[in-house]
Amino acid sequence: MKRVLSEKFGICIAVEAISADIYRELSSLFPEDSSFWGSLAESEDKHFKILLAAAGLINGGGAPSELVPDSLEEIDETFLLVSRAKEKTKKGNLSSLEACKMALDIESSTVEHHLQVALSEIGDKQFLSHLRMIIPEEKFHIDQIRDFMEAKGFGSGRAKN
Ligand SMILES: [Fe+2]
Repeated sequence: MKRVLSEKFGICIAVEAISADIYRELSSLFPEDSSFWGSLAESEDKHFKILLAAAGLINGGGAPSELVPDSLEEIDETFLLVSRAKEKTKKGNLSSLEACKMALDIESSTVEHHLQVALSEIGDKQFLSHLRMIIPEEKFHIDQIRDFMEAKGFGSGRAKN
C-alpha cells in the first residue's frame, strides 16, 4: 500500500517539475508574456515543493494521500501528457495560442487539477493547512490561463474546436 502511494507521489512530483519547466520555457519563448508564464512556473515550483514535503511523510506514516489522485493509470497518463508537451515546447515552434491551449490541457490533467482542488479544500487539517500556506490565495491555473487568453483576444479557451 505504502509502495503504491510513494510511486504515485513520485510521478506527481515529476509532473509538477516538468510543468514548471514547460512554463519557464514558454516564458523565454514569449518574452512579451514572460511575467504570465513565469508566475505559472513559480506556482508549479511551489506545487513541486508541497508534494516533496508531503512525500516525506510517507515513510513516517500519516501520508496525506488526498494530495495525489487515486488512479495510478491516470497519474501515468498525466505524466505522458506533460512529457509530450515538454518535447513540443523544446522544439519552440509553437504560437502563443497553441501554448495557451497546451497549458489548458496540462491544467485540466488529472494530477494538476487534483492537486489544485485538494489544496483549495484542505481546510484546517493540521499538516496540510501548513502546506497550504505556501500558496495562500491562488486562483486556479485554468482560470488564470483563460483570463490571459481573453486578454490576448484568443477567447476564453472554453469553446471546443
Ligand atoms: Fe501543479
